[in-house]
Amino acid sequence: MLEPAYNPELIDPFDHRQLLPGKGYWFNPENGEKYYINNGIPVFLPEQQMSGNNLKYSRFYDRISRFYRVSSVIYSRLKGSTEKQIKKKYLDLLNIQSGEKVLEVAVGSADNLKYLPANAMYCGIDISYGMLTMARRHLRKWKIPAGLFQGEAEHLPFADNTFDVVFHVGGISLFNDNRKAVAEMIRVTNPGGRLMIVDDNEGNPGRSDHKNPFSPLPGQQNNSGPDYPVKMLPTGMKNIEIRYLFDEQLYCLTFTKPNTSKDAVQSNNINLRA
Ligand SMILES: C[S@@+](CC[C@H](N)C(=O)[O-])C[C@H]1O[C@@H](n2cnc3c(N)ncnc32)[C@H](O)[C@@H]1O
Repeated sequence: MLEPAYNPELIDPFDHRQLLPGKGYWFNPENGEKYYINNGIPVFLPEQQMSGNNLKYSRFYDRISRFYRVSSVIYSRLKGSTEKQIKKKYLDLLNIQSGEKVLEVAVGSADNLKYLPANAMYCGIDISYGMLTMARRHLRKWKIPAGLFQGEAEHLPFADNTFDVVFHVGGISLFNDNRKAVAEMIRVTNPGGRLMIVDDNEGNPGRSDHKNPFSPLPGQQNNSGPDYPVKMLPTGMKNIEIRYLFDEQLYCLTFTKPNTSKDAVQSNNINLRA
């Protein structure tokens, strides 16, 4: 089995105490809570502790995990493109450099990692253990070392300021609490680090015609105005840019975490890019 390229410091996602390694689990020395490691994947949120949309979509993606990748490859072909062409359009915006520590939140079956530079260090977290099982299989096949973790985006098991780059593609509109998920993504990013969120553009009325049939339908969203994804961000983020891609079917939101609280801007200045 491929080992991860590095092991991030793990914390209890619910009280943020540093975790210690046990035999086959990580444990919280304060309250004795154990997080078991199942086939190399630490499990931070077993299904019986999930609720709302997170439970619903964890079950949904568990069910379709074996077909997810093939569906997205077929979908790209139907769109007259390839998976690589589609994914590189936004993944290249991450501009990942050699040796950087990179986290994908809701990594799914790890299909994005295939198109990122090999000389960085990757981790992925997802709520669906089924999707992570497929991710592990793909990563072995593609010989990409990466750490995989099961848990929810709203409670990440990583210490503050761990990653140089944190990104998410597809699904944040379905999370129980997308603002909390974004706040967590920012917490685990290094000061000055880069973040990216890509998702279906729910402001586009034609969007549902183009949707991958293996993606569930989104709920009601507050999507008025071309800058609506920015409403998920706390104030103070820097270099905020939004791009609308593929006939405005997707939005791509990129921004930087400020280096210090002094460096934080007072209000979110947004740059809409063509
Ligand atoms: C459309 S797939 C995208 C997978 C991958 N990012 C990609 O681009 O192919 C959405 C993923 O979000 C995961 N997910 C849904 N809700 C989540 C949550 N609250 N926390 C973490 N992952 C979640 C699902 O299990 C699924 O793997």
